[in-house]
Order: sequence, then C-alpha cells, then structure tokens
Amino acid sequence: MSDILCELAKVRIVPVIALNHAENAVPLARALIAGGIPCAEITFRTEAGQEAIRRIADAKLPILLGAGTVLSTAQVDAAIAAGASFIVSPGYNPKVVEYCIGKGYPILPGCATPSDMEMAIEAGLTAVKFFPAEQAGGLPYIKACAAPYPMLKFVPTGGINAENVAKYLAFPKVLACGGSWMCPTALIDAGSFGEITYLCRQAVEAIQAI
Ligand code: 3PG
Repeated sequence: MSDILCELAKVRIVPVIALNHAENAVPLARALIAGGIPCAEITFRTEAGQEAIRRIADAKLPILLGAGTVLSTAQVDAAIAAGASFIVSPGYNPKVVEYCIGKGYPILPGCATPSDMEMAIEAGLTAVKFFPAEQAGGLPYIKACAAPYPMLKFVPTGGINAENVAKYLAFPKVLACGGSWMCPTALIDAGSFGEITYLCRQAVEAIQAI
C-alpha cells in the first residue's frame, strides 16, 4: 500500500469539504485537527477549492490534504500545484486515473460497479472510493464485491454519518470512510468551527470501539 493509503487507513475518516470562501480553509483545518480527524478532502465543487488547498498547505498544518471531485487532468495539476497529496474523483475516469498513475499521484477513483472495480484493478490500483455508498447498496454491496476482488480496499463515501460509520469501518476491506457530515458547508459558511470540532469528536468516539 502507498504511504498515503497507509495514512488514510490510520486516520480512518476523510472529511469531504465544499468551501465557499477560501479564508475559512485554515480555521476549518484547525477545527478538524482539534476534533481528532487530521484529514481534509477539499473538493473542486466550489471555486474556492484550489485556493483553500493552497492556504492549508501553506499553513503547514499536520493534516493529510487531498483534493476531491477532481474531474479532469487540469484539475489534477491544479490540486497538486496547490499542495494536495492525493486525488479523489466521484467516478472512474480512465484519463484522470492514468494521468495520476503516470505522475505518481495517489488517486482514489469512485467505483460503484464491478466493471469500475475491474478497471481499477487493471490499472494497478489497490484502493478505490465506493460512491455513492449508502445509495448504491451500502455495506452488503461492498461485502459482495470484496469476494471476487480480494485485492481491493474500499473508501465508502456518500450517506455515511456518525450512526453508520462504525459499521463500515468494522469490515476489514474498508480502508477509511469519507463524508461531509462533520463539516457541512452551512457550518463552514457560518464560521461554526467549534461545532465542526464537536462533530469530529463525536465521529472519533463512534469508531473508538472498533
Ligand atoms: C462525496 O463527494 O464524496 C459526497 O458528496 C460525500 O457524500 P455525503 O455528503 O453524503 O457525505
């Protein structure tokens, strides 16, 4: 497993973030760290995404910093230039995957079907995002796919929350879980960083017994 995948496996929860204002990036990163989740997937879903990554990277915080909703090779370059150390995409885009592999950038492409997963295996990947996790069949679906593809680990994302995260992480093929429940955009926009830290702690507590 790559170093980044090992780090993700330690952090276990990947906050998926859509930031409207780049000035909230560093306070948000500090809130996640204070809550015990030193990881951030800043999505390119908002215009502030790249600048938010840059600000967190420049602040040299002890946080695993990735870029999410990466839909093109241009966005891969923008994310890496800003300081992201891993790339996440919602679906399996062969161009984006091959580009990342060629450059040596860790990539977690979204896979929702066995065909997607076989493309990932063919490309040499050992971990994929499973998206949208709850909507696509949840843990039973992952368990079914883990049987023919024992070489793959999954990062389920989509519909995961403090109530169901432990159930996913208890399955050994689940490397980490992604989700936005601890950092909803409304709380970020409101500057409610204390609340975000509280939601992170709640998530950490929820998975402590695993
Ligand atoms: C993602 O892009 O990974 C999802 O939007 C996160 O899903 P969630 O908001 O249901 O956690």
